[in-house]
Amino acid sequence: MDKQEIVLASNNAGKVREINELLDDTSFHVMPQSDFNIEEVEETGLSFIENALIKARNATLHTKLPAIADDSGIEVPALDGRPGIYSARYAGVGASDEDNLNKLIKDIELLSEEDRLARFVCVMVFMKHAEDPTPIITQGFWDGVIITKPLGDNGFGYDPIFYVPTHDCASAELSPEVKNQLSHRGQALRQLVRLINEEV
Ligand code: IMP
Repeated sequence: MDKQEIVLASNNAGKVREINELLDDTSFHVMPQSDFNIEEVEETGLSFIENALIKARNATLHTKLPAIADDSGIEVPALDGRPGIYSARYAGVGASDEDNLNKLIKDIELLSEEDRLARFVCVMVFMKHAEDPTPIITQGFWDGVIITKPLGDNGFGYDPIFYVPTHDCASAELSPEVKNQLSHRGQALRQLVRLINEEV
């Protein structure tokens, strides 16, 4: 079967593979935006949804193909939702995962365990074309607690300090398969694929 190409507003090979696995028995196939020499757009939104829409619109505008984009991060309610949309640059522009994680440890170190509750958030968007008035939007959430001593080597970003109560370990100690089953990204993606299939 000839598959309909969709541009993915990300160059992350892991994300491309993961999404294509979920699209395996559909008529869709995603390609990274780097295949089309698209430059990353500035994320000027104030919410995950706005930033995902900005990225998807940029990708579909330049390729004339339908686009999928995601935006994700970690929220701590006791810090008014920070790091939030600034998760990738919490310790400043160009900060490493380790810098960001250390800044979050410092911010919550003196808080009670209750105030260390956190959640990962992922928003995914599917847009048929740049003027699509009804993009499909899904959100996935994953609840946990911030710990001050990093654990585990898997994953990326804040995974070593995200304690998962249901599995009594840090996210960075979970296998990729288990993390995909539980995670904000897995949930948002499975929901998105289901809704795309219902629409077409
Ligand atoms: P992006 O949406 O891939 O740009 O992710 C934004 C930032 O949120 C990343 O740089 C990480 O710091 C953080 N983040 C998002 N998802 C995860 C996750 O699954 N584990 C750890 N950190 C994450």
